[in-house]
Amino acid sequence: MERKDFLKKTFAMCGLAMIPAAVLESCSKSNTTAPSNVNFTIDLSVSANAALLNVGGYLVSNSVIVIHVSSGIYNAFSDICTHEGCSVGYNATSAQISCPCHGGQFSPQTGAVISGPPPSALKQYTVTQSGNVLTIKS
Ligand code: FES
Repeated sequence: MERKDFLKKTFAMCGLAMIPAAVLESCSKSNTTAPSNVNFTIDLSVSANAALLNVGGYLVSNSVIVIHVSSGIYNAFSDICTHEGCSVGYNATSAQISCPCHGGQFSPQTGAVISGPPPSALKQYTVTQSGNVLTIKS
């Protein structure tokens, strides 16, 4: 082996050995655990919740995405992507739940994976409506 090849290999190995553990850790999967014991209400008469008044509107509360999918029909899912844990949002134009990190797409009806790398569906929660109040439960 020539001297310059030896030095190249040595520096390459040292460079790899000097990568801090925190950097390597950041490449590992984040928390993808959906919230459990969900039980909260959303008052539709409160201006902070106005996004839910129109079909296609959504909001995120308690790590749960609540979507007004069609007139008077609301669906709720964990907002934690099952791939690497990014927070999902709702795209009313494509009518899909979208993950901004790697393009995962989920059904706003069932939470099932439509496309992309997520390995499993979003956890779905029940939504009941009484007057202006939505109750979201596990
Ligand atoms: S974290 Fe959602 S697609 Fe990767």
